[in-house]
Amino acid sequence: MEHAGIRIEGLRKRYGQGDTAVDALKDVNMAVAPGEVVGLIGPSGSGKSTLLKCLGAVIEPSAGRMTLGNEVIYDDGWKTRDLRALRRDRIGFVFQAPYLIPFLDVTDNVALLLMLAGMPNKEARLRALELLQALDVQHRARAMPAQLSGGEQQRVAIARGLVNRPPVILADEPTAPLDSERALAVIRILNDMARRFETAIIVVTHDEKIIPTFRRIYHIRDGVTHEEAGEGRAIERSA
Ligand SMILES: Nc1ncnc2c1ncn2[C@@H]1O[C@H](COP(=O)(O)OP(=O)(O)OP(=O)(O)O)[C@@H](O)[C@H]1O
Ligand SMILES: [Mg+2]
Repeated sequence: MEHAGIRIEGLRKRYGQGDTAVDALKDVNMAVAPGEVVGLIGPSGSGKSTLLKCLGAVIEPSAGRMTLGNEVIYDDGWKTRDLRALRRDRIGFVFQAPYLIPFLDVTDNVALLLMLAGMPNKEARLRALELLQALDVQHRARAMPAQLSGGEQQRVAIARGLVNRPPVILADEPTAPLDSERALAVIRILNDMARRFETAIIVVTHDEKIIPTFRRIYHIRDGVTHEEAGEGRAIERSA
């Protein structure tokens, strides 16, 4: 059977060359199915950001293989000609809230990617509003980012990461600035979205509040991944 979602095999990344070379990724293996949310955990300098950047086609790996859906995108070299389209259409990034664009309102922050991809503005805004509604922040649709609470900003950042319905979402410390209740709310939303849009989601985190929610966790240590079962603790729905 073909494996949809994302698969990484024997991925390596060396920065620089010669005496000063750093082997940031030595042997990374991961498979995340559509609809699944996995945690990626590891000490500082272990290679988490490097891995996300390789996955997001922001930097080029040095060796190994990456498969997205049924397409090999990297196999000892990029196999996808248009990396910009790959990043725009097939990978969603959720960074921390400060990455919202301060001079665009909430709706346009979310709709921007669709507009840039050529969707008519009206349709893009409607799609953005649907998602803001799903994330329960539609009442702030006309506000500017600076007028939102931290939790609201984070939900908007998530809406933006999901708006083009990419098959893969990469989330880097998405709950870091949030209190326990809001952090769990973000994880609940990511799980709902994963199921609803068949998205494969990788969450880099140090956050002890959310680690027990993952069913599977990849630990990365010194550039090598180890898979582990998580507690998969259910996240109760708030009213
Ligand atoms: N552009 C670069 N050039 C050279 N070395 C780099 C570069 N970026 C990262 N490194 C090195 O690669 C290793 C992995 O770094 P990476 O940023 O992926 O770690 P991380 O797990 O994200 O750490 P943190 O939790 O501190 O964010 C580190 O030794 C780092 O110093
Ligand atoms: Mg990092």
